[in-house]
Formats: sequence, C-alpha cells, structure tokens
Amino acid sequence: MSDHAEHYILATGGRDVERLRILHEVYGPGTEALFHRVGLRPGLRVALVGCGSGNVACWVAEQVAPGGHVVGIDISSDQIEQARLQAQSRGLTNIEFHVADAYAPRLPEGSFDLAYCRLVLMHLTHPVDALRAMWSLVKPGGTVLCEEMNLGCWLCDPPAEAMSSFFRLNDALGDRRGENFHLGASLHRLFREAGFERPEVSSNFVMAVRGRAKRLLWMTFVQFAPELVREGLATQEEVDRVAEGLKQVADDETTLFGFPLVAQVWCERR
Ligand SMILES: C[S@@+](CC[C@H](N)C(=O)[O-])C[C@H]1O[C@@H](n2cnc3c(N)ncnc32)[C@H](O)[C@@H]1O
Repeated sequence: MSDHAEHYILATGGRDVERLRILHEVYGPGTEALFHRVGLRPGLRVALVGCGSGNVACWVAEQVAPGGHVVGIDISSDQIEQARLQAQSRGLTNIEFHVADAYAPRLPEGSFDLAYCRLVLMHLTHPVDALRAMWSLVKPGGTVLCEEMNLGCWLCDPPAEAMSSFFRLNDALGDRRGENFHLGASLHRLFREAGFERPEVSSNFVMAVRGRAKRLLWMTFVQFAPELVREGLATQEEVDRVAEGLKQVADDETTLFGFPLVAQVWCERR
C-alpha cells in the first residue's frame, strides 16, 4: 500500500450503486466516445483504476472481446464486490477485479494497452503519483486516459441558490481535505509532470432539463453533507436547505442543468 493516508469521502458498495449508475448515464456516452477515439478494440488488455461498481469496466470488457481482458482495481472492497456482481450478471468472463490502491496498483508493469480512470484523481491528495503508477502499467505504445471533473464549469438556468451553494460547499470541503475538485483544468499539466510528453485533450459536458439524471448532484450532496457539518463548514440547517433546493431544481423540468464539465486527457507512452 502507499504512504498516502487518505479516506474517500463518498459512499461505497451497495449504498453508491444507484448514484454511480446515474453518473454513468450522464457521462457514459462521452466516456465511450473517448475510448473509441483512442482505438478500443477486441484483443486489448485494459486496466481500470478506481473502477467503482464496474460500469465502465464491464462495458470495456464487452468491447475488447474476443481475446481482450480487463482488470479493475479499487481501494474499496465494497465497490469491488459490486463490480464483481455486475460482471457476473452481465455474463462476462474476460474481467477480474481486485482491491488495490491507485498509488500502488500491484498489477504487472508494462502489461496493458490502456490504463484508464474516471473521477478518481480528483479525490487524491497526490494525483501525479497515481498517474505515474498508471504510466508504469502500460506498454510502450499503450495509452493512459483519464476523465476528471472541473467543478468550475457548470450551468443552471435559471440560476438557483442551491446549485451555487453545492459548488461553494464542495470546494470548501475539497480545500479542507487537500482534494482538488477543479483538477480537470490542470489535468494536462499533471500528465506532463508524470512524464507524458504531448497529452491530448477533449471534454465531456452534458446538459439536461428532465430525467432522473438531474438528481445526480443532489444524491452526491447528501453523501458528503455530513462531512460538511462535522468539519464545521456548514450547519445542519444549511445542508438540509441546500439538499431540498437541489432536489427541487432537479425535478423541475423548466430548469436546465449543465453537469460539471469532465476534462478528458490522454497520452501514449513512448
Ligand atoms: C467517484 S467514484 C468513480 C467510480 C468509477 N470510476 C466511475 O466512474 O463509475 C471514485 C472511486 O475511486 C475509488 N478510490 C478512491 N481513492 C482510491 C485509491 N486511492 N485507489 C483506488 N481507488 C480509489 C473510490 O473507492 C471510488 O470507487
């Protein structure tokens, strides 16, 4: 395991399956487009770091069949349990999951064609170290690809106080914990720091006016709100007010959401 003592703030396992499914409904099409862009195809070996309940990993396993193989790792054994259940229910035989740390994945070095993570580095205090670990997993000619949020880029029309409060409080918590929820913007520089010479960039930005996906921010807020109160960053009354406001605007189809922008950065290992 790594020297970095951290704990992940959001829920895991069965308590987060639904939220991650909704998150995948929002960002999945952009993720799939990115994978196709970097040449995902049958036969490839792919590592997924911080794979959560396995939504991307299982889709990738379907794309690399026949002949390809997927390994997903996550620091949380609860997430890995959910990922295994999903793979089993989808009848996948070319995928395996292990509990492991992004800083020290304990996978064979230089053995993968692609190494990927989504919304993982933004939760780490030393994201460049985790990127270096991903770099070491891919073969020369292989590609590392990451998708990370930039909480500075979002939309709400008409403006809603609850949405502004969500982002303000999320930032405050990130600052307190040494996590950078604006990491998407600087991800290209982190790639260079980690040793990648010429990273490529794109974006995954999604808007919605209706549908359950709009509840994603509310569901996320409910998970981290207790930490805001514990840390003295908000009162219980305030978090209750914000939670209620987020749910209301999510369910109001005259309000448009632009979900936080996800930066996509990838680079080949030379
Ligand atoms: C926001 S979730 C994203 C899950 C998945 N990548 C997806 O997009 O559906 C972040 C995941 O990173 C995992 N995680 C956090 N810190 C980690 C670490 N140091 N090593 C590996 N996984 C970690 C969490 O357990 C969680 O499953």
